[in-house]
Amino acid sequence: MHQSIEHLFTNNKNWSERMHAEDPDYFRRLVNQQTPEYLWIGCSDSRVPANQVVGLAPGEVFVHRNIANVVVHTDLNALSVIHYAVEMLRVKHILVVGHYGCGGVKAAMNDNKTGLTDNWLRHIQDVRDRHLDRLERIDDPAARANRLCELNAMHQVVNVCQTSVLREAWQRGQNVTVHGWCYSLEDGLVRDLAVSAGSREEAVERYRDAAERD
Ligand code: CO
Repeated sequence: MHQSIEHLFTNNKNWSERMHAEDPDYFRRLVNQQTPEYLWIGCSDSRVPANQVVGLAPGEVFVHRNIANVVVHTDLNALSVIHYAVEMLRVKHILVVGHYGCGGVKAAMNDNKTGLTDNWLRHIQDVRDRHLDRLERIDDPAARANRLCELNAMHQVVNVCQTSVLREAWQRGQNVTVHGWCYSLEDGLVRDLAVSAGSREEAVERYRDAAERD
């Protein structure tokens, strides 16, 4: 049976009217340019909407999302987003945002078979295997998976910092900082993972320190 999506058009019309009523210049202003200061790299999970979580309006955050917020060195999609954000939009901050209770991370942690996605989650298993000793010391399975959510976000911060885009930006003196966060679905709060980096070396060093902290 074909299910109607008519309500989405109704929602959209209402939203457009509301935005216009609140700020008559709103759409006119955004038509010509976007000047976001932030790039958000997060999970596709429908419960982690970038703009709402940090209270930013359309036009204020450039967004890339995929399953379990992974940044792979050969992923042309992610690299292009990072390139555009850094070189064209000149964002000042890149936020790599994992979230506790991430289904992708849980599947990776437990070797669950999901099909095609297993190949994508393999990247997270590389992170898991790298920290296996520490992870295995955590008895509670949910806590163990949540720690991997943090480690994965921290690891992806390093991956962002290793890209040619960031290395070249820093080389020419551009001011851009990469951060690692983990969002809690339970209380809606973001936790800073203390791996913020303004250089590749700093990223590697802070990741090592943060990963050793239990
Ligand atoms: Co997720």
